[in-house]
Amino acid sequence: MELIIVDNYQELSERAAMLIVAEVEAKPRAVLGLATGSTPEGMYAELVKLNSEGKVDFSGITTFNLDEYAGLAPEHEQSYYYYMRHHLFNQVKIRAEQINMPSCDLENVDQFCFEYDQRIAAAGGIDLQVLGIGGNGHIGFNEPGDQLRVPTHLVDLTEDTILANSRFFSSVEAVPKQAVTMGLGSIMLANKIILLAAGKAKAEAITRTVSGLITTSVPASILQLHRDVTIIVDREAAGLLS
Ligand code: GLP
Repeated sequence: MELIIVDNYQELSERAAMLIVAEVEAKPRAVLGLATGSTPEGMYAELVKLNSEGKVDFSGITTFNLDEYAGLAPEHEQSYYYYMRHHLFNQVKIRAEQINMPSCDLENVDQFCFEYDQRIAAAGGIDLQVLGIGGNGHIGFNEPGDQLRVPTHLVDLTEDTILANSRFFSSVEAVPKQAVTMGLGSIMLANKIILLAAGKAKAEAITRTVSGLITTSVPASILQLHRDVTIIVDREAAGLLS
C-alpha cells in the first residue's frame, strides 16, 4: 500500500484527480470504478475543471459505480445515479452507454448483480477503482460482519451506516435500509485502487485498514492483500497512524 498524507481536502482532491487523469492519458478507453459520498466530491470538481480546460478527455472511458441504494429511483436527489450525473456525467463529454450503475430496482436483483459482474468482466475489468471508506471500515456498501461477499450483491445496511448517511436525508427513517454493492471480489480484481479519506471521523478506520489485522470487521483491511493500492488521506484522517 502506498500512503499519501496531504495537508488538506483540496490537495487530496487534486492528487486523486491527477491519478485518474494519468490513467486516462495512458489508456483513453480506461474502465474506471467510481465511488460516491462526500469525500470524492472535490476530486470530481477537479476532473470537471481539468476537462473544461482540455486537459483530459473522458469520451472513451467506461465507468462502473460501486453501489446504489436499493429502491431509490434514479431521479431521487440522494440516489447515487443523481449524484454522479450532478458531479460528473452531466458536466463532461461521456457517452451514456458507457456508464454503468448498480440497479436501484429490487425486482430481479440477483440476476442484475450477476450480470453487473459479467459486464465488468466483458469490459476487460476495472483499470482504476476509486473508493471512499465508511467510519466503520466499509468500502462500497460492504459492511462489517462475520462474512464478506465476493460478487455484487444486495446488502442490509448497518445502523452505523444508516445513521452516518442520514445527514443527506430528511430523517433517519428516510434512509434506505438496503443497497446494491460491488462485492469485495469485484473491488479486489481492479488493477489499481485509490482510497480517499478525510477528517478525523475516518482516522480509526484508516489505521485499521493500513496497519490492523485483516478482518471482516474492517472490510477495507482486505485491501492490504491488493498489489496496487494508493491511500490518500488528509492529516486528520491520518491522525491515529503511528
Ligand atoms: C457511503 C458509500 C461509500 C462511501 C462512504 C463514505 O456509505 N456507500 O461508498 O465511501 O459512505 O462516505 P463519505 O465520503 O460521505 O464519508
